[in-house]
Amino acid sequence: MALARAFAPGKVILLGEHSVVYGHPALAGPLEQGVTVTLDSSDSGLLIKCPVDAPQLTSAVKRCASLFRLTDVSVELGGDLPQAVGLGSSAAVSVALVRAFAAATQLNMRPQGLLDRAMELESEFHGAASGVDHNVSFERKLIRFVKGRRGQPLVLPKAVEAVVWVVEPRGSTREKVAALRRRREYEPEPVDRIFQRIGELADSAVEALERGEVARAGHAMDENQRLLDALHLSTPGLDAEIRELKSLGALGAKLTGAGGGGSVVGLFEDADPVVARLVAEGKRAFVARWEATE
Ligand code: MEV
Repeated sequence: MALARAFAPGKVILLGEHSVVYGHPALAGPLEQGVTVTLDSSDSGLLIKCPVDAPQLTSAVKRCASLFRLTDVSVELGGDLPQAVGLGSSAAVSVALVRAFAAATQLNMRPQGLLDRAMELESEFHGAASGVDHNVSFERKLIRFVKGRRGQPLVLPKAVEAVVWVVEPRGSTREKVAALRRRREYEPEPVDRIFQRIGELADSAVEALERGEVARAGHAMDENQRLLDALHLSTPGLDAEIRELKSLGALGAKLTGAGGGGSVVGLFEDADPVVARLVAEGKRAFVARWEATE
């Protein structure tokens, strides 16, 4: 029997990527897909079994083992979350690792303590993370998130459904965040104006979803996409799939995650038939659904 096993979901950002790094609100929710970490005892020190050979993953596992002072252990990473396409795989790895190690060492840590350790591991992946990915993976709810605070779960009068479509490989989040930081240093005012507006849109989408006005949240996503495009974060591939989601009836659609490739997300009244159609065409798409809370 395994020493401990933990699952942590990936995430999809509905509004607010990048501006969230500068203190503006974002809206994001968990996926069904995620990362599983299984720990077993080992006679030969720290063993890492991982389906992909990524040095950052190895470093994160080592760092976690040393944080929890558990060294004779085999760590197996698995799961069904697409990697490096804007769906929060590195945060899910960090959260699943911390949960598994805390269970194995029978440490009764408070949620904030676990979250802080998961954020510590994130520095292996991208340094200046806002924390939105971790908070979603940790809370497993659709949340409004502001950097430095715990995510606030939305109160939903009706379920919210989205189509997530993995489009193309993406460069590193660390580089995208750093490039935008350089651009902001060069021309602070226009970039800050855009970030400010994206934050306002995120809040207007939060308010709309809490009133059951999904179409209004969709309009906010459309405007968010235009602003991300103005920051050169979209690509022709992402643009084409966003147009396709709109032609399939999306109430709003945009890139999700750091941009420059990755995935797109569309808000729908009924996401199942859209995903069925995309999958039948050989596309990599799935439904994200957050149930009503009242
Ligand atoms: C990455 O999922 C989202 C970004 O806003 C970076 C971050 O919030 O850490 C691009």
